This record gives sequence, structure tokens and C-alpha cells, in this order.
Amino acid sequence: MQSTTSKFDILEKAYDASHFRELGHQVIDLLADHLEKAHSNSDYPVLSYQNPKDELAYWEQDFSSESGILDVFKNILEHSIHVHHPRYIGHQVAVPALVSTLAGLMSDMLSNGTGVYEMGMAANAIEKIVTDFVAKKIGYKTKTSGFLTSGGTLANLTALLAARKAKAPSAIWENGHQEKLAVIVSEEAHYCIDRAARILGFGSEGIIKVPVDKEFKINIDLLEEALDNAKSNGLHVIAVIGCACSTATGSYDDLDRLANFAEQHNLWFHVDGAHGGAVVFSERYKHLTKGIDRADSVVIDFHKMLMTPALNTGLIFKKEEDAYQTFAQKAQYLWDSQHTKEWYNSGKRTFECTKLMMSIKVYAILKTHGEKIFERNVDRLYGLTEVFSKMIRKRPNFKLALEPESNIVNFRYINVRGNNLNKVNNEIRQSLVASGKFYIVQTTIGEDKYLRTTIMNPLTKEEDLMALLDEIECIAETIVR
Ligand SMILES: Cc1ncc(COP(=O)(O)O)c(C=O)c1O
Repeated sequence: MQSTTSKFDILEKAYDASHFRELGHQVIDLLADHLEKAHSNSDYPVLSYQNPKDELAYWEQDFSSESGILDVFKNILEHSIHVHHPRYIGHQVAVPALVSTLAGLMSDMLSNGTGVYEMGMAANAIEKIVTDFVAKKIGYKTKTSGFLTSGGTLANLTALLAARKAKAPSAIWENGHQEKLAVIVSEEAHYCIDRAARILGFGSEGIIKVPVDKEFKINIDLLEEALDNAKSNGLHVIAVIGCACSTATGSYDDLDRLANFAEQHNLWFHVDGAHGGAVVFSERYKHLTKGIDRADSVVIDFHKMLMTPALNTGLIFKKEEDAYQTFAQKAQYLWDSQHTKEWYNSGKRTFECTKLMMSIKVYAILKTHGEKIFERNVDRLYGLTEVFSKMIRKRPNFKLALEPESNIVNFRYINVRGNNLNKVNNEIRQSLVASGKFYIVQTTIGEDKYLRTTIMNPLTKEEDLMALLDEIECIAETIVR
């Protein structure tokens, strides 16, 4: 059994400033070396793939070994995917601007859970500045209210809770469900919208999925019919949701026409801009979200197109009071009254009680690189995607699923005899990921498997994309042969 003194020693060491300083410098060196290798050496793997069984066995072995913490950090690095690698072209995860990762360290060290003002004075005030900044970019002219929350999934759920509060005929928050409620959304919406509607108790009937047109945008001409059918089935539709953009294909719904529809029928209009809402920062691409300023609520993930570490999502309400109505609830030990609109107690409006100091990560980027940085990033990623889709069109071995509107590109290798296209494209991706040379993902459109890339890294170059197509052709030849 350990003596009281040795226990005390262990605790003291856990908080020892000089040990932290020394290890901290070593960890920063480790990460900076990693970045240099990722940026300059195309042989440095994006991912050293291991199957789940072997990966677990590795860490089980490590847990019972004598490895020091610096070795553990090195091994975590080796066993993780590297989003800073220019050949990371996979899921929609931001490549964090480096200064925001340092703000992340600050957040973890200070642990100022920002739900209540005293527990995060700076972070709460900065959160207001950051969300007001986004509200302005959206084009809101009203007195808005915004906050940061833990991810697009939670933000979409919170927006629909607000919609329910505003548009449901009875007081569900107090009395529970009285009527059958529903929302209308494109069949291409992210699955979290479906999940949110079910969590809200709407059931499968309450999520009305409208088919898309050939560009994978919600078919506006089918909205009236969808609403009429819902009414005749005894449903009360509270909201229509626009995708800006959709996850699988990166298509932008026509937000202006959705806003017309919402206004005509007194529906809440929500925009899921988790990925592509970031174009509000870009003069060149903001036309894609024309009408977004008419939405009652908008979600934008900073951890997708806005260079911030996950999770970090802005939920902005056009009307301030809607944000405060969502969770009208007493919490005497946190604040005096639920009825006062205190922007500095963000917990009144968020699902979370305690949350990370998300705002300081965004603020660090804006202060270090200036307000134009987000525009530069969107323009770079969307612009490079235009170049990439031209490259694909020029090569007869490939076919684009559709002309990309965002930085999401779906394409497939087609120089295959017989009916093996899905199988071959599947194998191409597996082989590519196993090689560690590139990281891309895949999706299914209709019955067809496509290779799916999202250009997330502003340091990805045209040569990287050219090399990706060369590599796919090489792999495909061996598979087909
Ligand atoms: C359009 C859209 N909405 C919502 C989400 C979910 O966001 P998060 O992963 O931040 O919870 C995603 C994630 O890819 C998305 O693409």
C-alpha cells in the first residue's frame, strides 16, 4: 500500500509547473517536426492503417508497458490520421490553423466551462464577439443571438427545439406531446436531422423527406404537395430545413425559394450550413447561400470549413428571443431568473451546461491572421475543387457524379469491363488507404459507389491531386488485370 506521503508526491507531480514546461516544449517540438514532415515529404504517410483488432492489441500492450508519456504521444501521432498532410482529402474535418490548437491548450488548461459567466468571463465575452461577427456575415439586420456549441448535430437539434417552441400549437416543454409534429427536409440532409426529429418525438412520420432534383438539391416543386399530404395525415408541420450544402454531394438547396415557402406557410426556416454555410465569408461564393439571411436559425461548423479544431459550431438565431425561449427552465444555483436575456450566461441558451472554451480558438485565428482568413480558406478550397473537377473531366478513365458546387467531389474509375464498377472502386479506395499515400472516402449515389474527396487542406496542391488520379489509375490497372 502507498504511504500518504507518496500519494501526495504523485499529486504534486501531476501539477508541477517545471515538469509541464519541460514536457510541453518536447511535445511542441514533436508536433512541429510532424508538421514539417507532413508538409515536405510525400513519403510520410497520411495514415498508417491498422485493423481495429491489431490497434486494440497494440494499446493493450502499451498500457501494461513501462512506456513514458513522450513515447505515448509519439505513438498516438503514428497511430492517427494526419489532417495536416496535403494528401489528406477525406472527411469534412478542418485542418486546424496552428494558433487555434494553442488556444485549445489554453482551453484545456484553464478549463473555464463557459455556461455561466464567472466560469468563463473571457470566453463568454469573446463568444458574443465571434457569433455577432458570423451573424453580420450571414446578413442579419435584426437583433440576433448566437452561441457556440459542441457540433453540428447538437446545434441542429437545438435549432429544431427552438422551432418546436416557436411553432408547435401547444406548450410541449411544459405538458409533453399533444399533437403530431413534423419537419420538411431534403432526402439528402445529414442523418443528424432525422435523428433530431426522432429525439424530439416526431417519429418516422414526422420527418418528411422531399426528393431531390438531378443536381441533388431539394425539389422545390414538390414542397406544396408534401405539406398538403402531411396535413391530410393529421401532421402539424413546424419547419422546413435547407441544406447548405448536403453532405454526400455538396449541393446547395435554393434557400431563397425555401424562405418563400416558409414565409407563405408560417413555418420555421432552418439552414443546416454545418459544412457549406462558411461561404457567407466569401464574396466569390456567397451567392450559393442567397436567402440565408431569411432563415430563423443557421448552423455553421467552425470545425469544417473554418480552420478550427473539432468540435466548434455556431448556432445563430435571427431573433434574439428565440434563443432564450428554447430552454425556458429554472436553475437557481446558476442564475437568478430564466426570463432575463443575459448573453454572458450562455448556458441559458445551450444544451450543454459545462462546455469547452470554443470561442477562444476562433478568436485566436481571427486575431492572428485577420478577418479575411476565412474568405481565403473558402476561396482556396472551392477554387482548387474547380481545378480538380476539370482534371477529372479531362481523363477518360474517370467520371464525375455531378459538377461540384462546393469542395466535395464524387467521381469513379470507369475503365472496367462488365458489371464490376462498384467492386473495383471499392477496392481502389481500400488499396489507397492501406498504402498510406492518400486518404479519401467513398459514398453511394443511387446504386453506384463513388470515390469521395473533400479538399479540406489549403496546402493541398494541384500536383497532389494529379498524383492522386495517377495513383488511382495505377491501382485500378492492377485490380482490373
Ligand atoms: C450538412 C451537415 N450537417 C451536420 C453534420 C453533423 O455535424 P457534426 O459532425 O459537427 O456533428 C454534418 C457532418 O458532416 C454535415 O455535413
